[in-house]
Amino acid sequence: MQGFLTASAAKLPRSPLYTAIRAGWVCSSCKRHGASRLPALSSYQRSFSSSPARTTAAAAPKPYYVTTPIFYVNAAPHVGHLYSMVMADVFKRWEVLKGRQAYLCTGTDEHGMKVQRAAELQEVPPKIFCDSNAETFMDLAQKVNMSNDYFVRTTDPDHREAVEFFWGRLRERGYIYESKHEGWYCVSDEAFYPENMVEKRVDSMTGKPFIASIETGNEVEWTEERNYHFRMTDLKDRLLQFYKENPQWVVPATRMADVVSWVQNNLEDLSVSRPASRLSWGIPVPDDPSQTIYVWVDALINYITKAGYPMWTPGSENALGWPADVHIIGKDIVRFHCVYWPALLLALDLPLPKRILSHGHWLMNSRKMSKSIGNVVNPFFAIDRWGVDTMRYFMIYNGGVSQDSDYDNSFIVDRYKKGLQGGLGGLLNRVTRSKAWNFRSIIEQAHGQVLKPADWKLQHMQAEITELRRATECLSQNTADFFENELNPGRALKEIMEVVFQANRLLQHTEPWNLVKQGEVEAAHQIIYHAAESCRIAGILLQPFMPEKSGRLLDRLGVDQGQRTFDHARFGSDSTYGVSTVPLGEGAQSSLFPPIPAEN
Ligand code: ME8
Ligand code: MG
Repeated sequence: MQGFLTASAAKLPRSPLYTAIRAGWVCSSCKRHGASRLPALSSYQRSFSSSPARTTAAAAPKPYYVTTPIFYVNAAPHVGHLYSMVMADVFKRWEVLKGRQAYLCTGTDEHGMKVQRAAELQEVPPKIFCDSNAETFMDLAQKVNMSNDYFVRTTDPDHREAVEFFWGRLRERGYIYESKHEGWYCVSDEAFYPENMVEKRVDSMTGKPFIASIETGNEVEWTEERNYHFRMTDLKDRLLQFYKENPQWVVPATRMADVVSWVQNNLEDLSVSRPASRLSWGIPVPDDPSQTIYVWVDALINYITKAGYPMWTPGSENALGWPADVHIIGKDIVRFHCVYWPALLLALDLPLPKRILSHGHWLMNSRKMSKSIGNVVNPFFAIDRWGVDTMRYFMIYNGGVSQDSDYDNSFIVDRYKKGLQGGLGGLLNRVTRSKAWNFRSIIEQAHGQVLKPADWKLQHMQAEITELRRATECLSQNTADFFENELNPGRALKEIMEVVFQANRLLQHTEPWNLVKQGEVEAAHQIIYHAAESCRIAGILLQPFMPEKSGRLLDRLGVDQGQRTFDHARFGSDSTYGVSTVPLGEGAQSSLFPPIPAEN
């Protein structure tokens, strides 16, 4: 403690990383990413100013970069975590569909009091405890078919190096000072709360009174200690200026307003370390091992660890995607991401993430699904039961951004029956399986033909066909808008499914199978062609949501592997499909979306 209190920033010994960087050492992550030798420290600093080096870097397109929160390993994942994972994966796959290089990072948050206590409770050394639980999150990422490029663990050596380096720069710039801290700490939220954010409550089970965070309802404990503080209040004006210049930064807008108001009214300096005597499970303060770095500072830096920080050479700072295009988070951790994180980055003049998407919570019995409450659904069981793409579809369709969502198995069944089995599967079956026409010939002949409904005896069908065509022609652009401007994959999905439902309605109203019998072959073929185009384009655009099922749908339509990109999601852009590359089979069970077996 003595050294901690008396050391002045100027006299601080250099961290091993700092010294190594000076000497031109290349860290493990840097080697892995194939970067060349490190520049001298001064060139890092230069690279974030508006130097010519920065301008040159803008020439190479920055890869897209999307992240999930890194999850605490104190307990097993539940479907709330699954939602953030699927959401982030859908964004990444969308960009890949558009032909862009994209990176996705997920991972685990392993340090801090919460994990330390969970490990103690199980009488397991913390690292062993983390290894085992991190693996469950990795398994989940794999199980849900997440295309993550990285799985960051805060116990990874490259992450520790990034945190130590970051801390050193904060210290060097005078943002860290020592002070006594008194206040309420919530282990469950890993957060300090001021007096006006806590209240007395009574435990409904035991009748015991306790002090809780008003926001989260979790118990807080009084702490008095000396620790390091971050001069966040010095950044108040810059934060407010940034929010003003980027009003769309946080989605949804209501949460952006909360953030601004919080910074205006509540911003304080942040306590950024805990005495190692209390918290030993974490990254020690580089120059003072009697203190451990606050878990949220450690955790937030994960986003730049995998983007190569601090090995950002001038001209290639963006090579691994930083600044992130979007951080996907739950609404519970908005303040950490929208106040603390930009403040930390601003302090070092590092670029800020471009957008933050904070989604609503999944509720179980009207309460937030939460590891601490225990009202959780095991995502492994859910995927085994319903199938991976059904879960992905359901979570994005029913999951909220502004609103919370109720989780219930009956909702999954309902979505499956209406959207997948009846909607998408029904449309596919109708166009590809009918004996009344040759599907390939229709595509071949109808492709590029001008609609000539005036020649038909059944002119009343014209409006409905034209309407479907218009909706299908607009679909890729509308979907792109929902993804890229509104950051709302749920709306994008609904837009796609609306076209699927519309195509089915056209088939129901016009009954092309009967038209063929009545000799109205040309009209029937036009209808089938339009329905097929809607199905093909929906199939292409659904790939980010349901990679496996959409792939199989496009196989059944006979769409060439090379013709499944965003550019091919245009009406009339493909005349080559129509012969399935897989056996279509007979009967409902051989459908792409077979009926759900009845419960015993
Ligand atoms: O907060 N509904 O980790 P965490 C929807 N380690 N999403 C939910 C959810 C629910 N009921 N429950 C959890 C942490 N989530 C920190 C993050 S990031 C630098 C550090 C999702 O394990 C949602 O994304 O408590 C939420 O923000 C996150 O999991 C919290 O996970
Ligand atoms: Mg949590």
